[in-house]
Amino acid sequence: MNKKFLDLGLQPLANEYLKKFNPKQKKYRLKIFFNLKNKLVSISKRISSKKMFNNNYPYRSSMSQTMKYSFKDLSKEINKRFNPNKILEIGSNDGALLTNFYPKKVVGVEPCSNLAKITKKKGYTTYSEYWDLKLALKLKKKFNSFDLIYSANTLTHISNLKNVFRSICKVLSKNGVLIIEDPSLLECIKKNSYDQFYNEHIYLFSTISVNNLIKKFNLQIFDIKNLKTHGGSLRYYIKRIDNKKIKISKNVNLQIKKELKYRLDKFATYQKFSRNVMLSKKKLVKIISNLKKDEKTLIGYGATAKATTVLNFCNIDNKMIDFFIDITPEKINKFMPGKKIMIHKYHKKKLEKADYVFLGAWNFKKEIFNKEKKFIKNGGKFITHIPSPRIIKI
Ligand code: TMP
Repeated sequence: MNKKFLDLGLQPLANEYLKKFNPKQKKYRLKIFFNLKNKLVSISKRISSKKMFNNNYPYRSSMSQTMKYSFKDLSKEINKRFNPNKILEIGSNDGALLTNFYPKKVVGVEPCSNLAKITKKKGYTTYSEYWDLKLALKLKKKFNSFDLIYSANTLTHISNLKNVFRSICKVLSKNGVLIIEDPSLLECIKKNSYDQFYNEHIYLFSTISVNNLIKKFNLQIFDIKNLKTHGGSLRYYIKRIDNKKIKISKNVNLQIKKELKYRLDKFATYQKFSRNVMLSKKKLVKIISNLKKDEKTLIGYGATAKATTVLNFCNIDNKMIDFFIDITPEKINKFMPGKKIMIHKYHKKKLEKADYVFLGAWNFKKEIFNKEKKFIKNGGKFITHIPSPRIIKI
C-alpha cells in the first residue's frame, strides 16, 4: 500500500527548458509516496517517457569533470574486476561511460536521439530506443547475451520496473553482472535533499527496496558502493542468485543495517522528512528575501532539474534570482522550467556581478568552489539549501 508523505506542489517537467517563457507551461502535482510493503519511495503522477525523453533532452553527463572521472574509474574497475567480453549500457546519455571502452566491446541504449547521435558519431553502436522487452529481444537475437550490463541514473526514470528487470534478465548472461547506480534514499533523507524528487525521478531507491524488487527475478546484490555523485548515490552490483561463484560482500549487509538504523523501512521517517522539507522552504525564502531587502544581487549557479524543484516548490522567481548560469549548450538562453528566470552562458564576468549565488548544482560544490576560488576570495558568497538553508561560510 502506498502512503503519501510529501507534496511538492505543481511542478513543470524538470528538463523542459523553453526558449520563450510561457506562464502557462504545463505543470503536474508532485506528491511522494512510501510503499509500506516493498519499502519503495515513488512519485504519484507518471508522465509518459516520450514526453520527457525525446530528441532534445538537455541533460549531458559529460558536462561535469566529477562525473567523467567517476565513469572513468568505473570503466577501469569493470575491466579489472569482471573482464567482460560484451557490455550493454542502458541510458548511455552522451557517452560519459561508454566512450571509456573500445567501440566493439559495448552497446549503448539511449532513447534521446540527440544524445544517441553523439556516441553513434564516435563509432559506438547505440540504439535510440526505450529500454523494454521488445528491445531486449531484439538485442538477444543480435548479440545473444551480455556479461556486463550497466545503468546509471536511468532505472529510477522508468515507470515499469518489472518490465525493466524482466528485460535485463533476457540478455544478462548466466554468470553475468548487472551494475546499477542511482541517488541514494538514505543520503536524500540525511541531507534533506527533497530536490531529488522531480517528474523524471519516479523512484528513489534504497538497498532495502532494490533487494525486494530484484529477488522476484532471481537476482541478488553481491556488493555495494557509496558514491559522492548526484549528492550521494549507491552503486549496486547484482548477480543471478544461482551464480555461486561470486561471493556476497559484507558491504551489502552493512548498508542494509545503516538503512534500518535510519528507519528507512518506517513511514514515520518520511513524515519527519516532510516536516523538515517545509522548514527548509521557509528558511530559504527568508534568507533570499532578507538579501533582496538589502538590495543584494542574487544569481543561480547550475540550472539543474533539482533547482527547478526548489524554485517551483518555494515560489522563487526573477524578483529573487536574476538569472542562472550554466555550461550546458542545450540550456543556454532558455528559461528555468516554470519560472521566468533566464539561463545565461557561464562566464566568470557574469558571476562576478553577483553578491550572492544560489548553488543549484550543490552536488558539484567541490568542483565549483575549486573553479571559483577568485570569486570567493573577492567576497562572493554562495547560498545552499543542503542540508539546511544557509549562506556558506568558507
Ligand atoms: P545535475 O546536478 O543534474 O547533474 O546538473 C548539473 C548542472 O550544472 C548541469 O546543467 C551542468 C551545470 N554545471 C555548470 O554549469 N558548471 C559546473 O561547473 C558544473 C560542475 C555543472
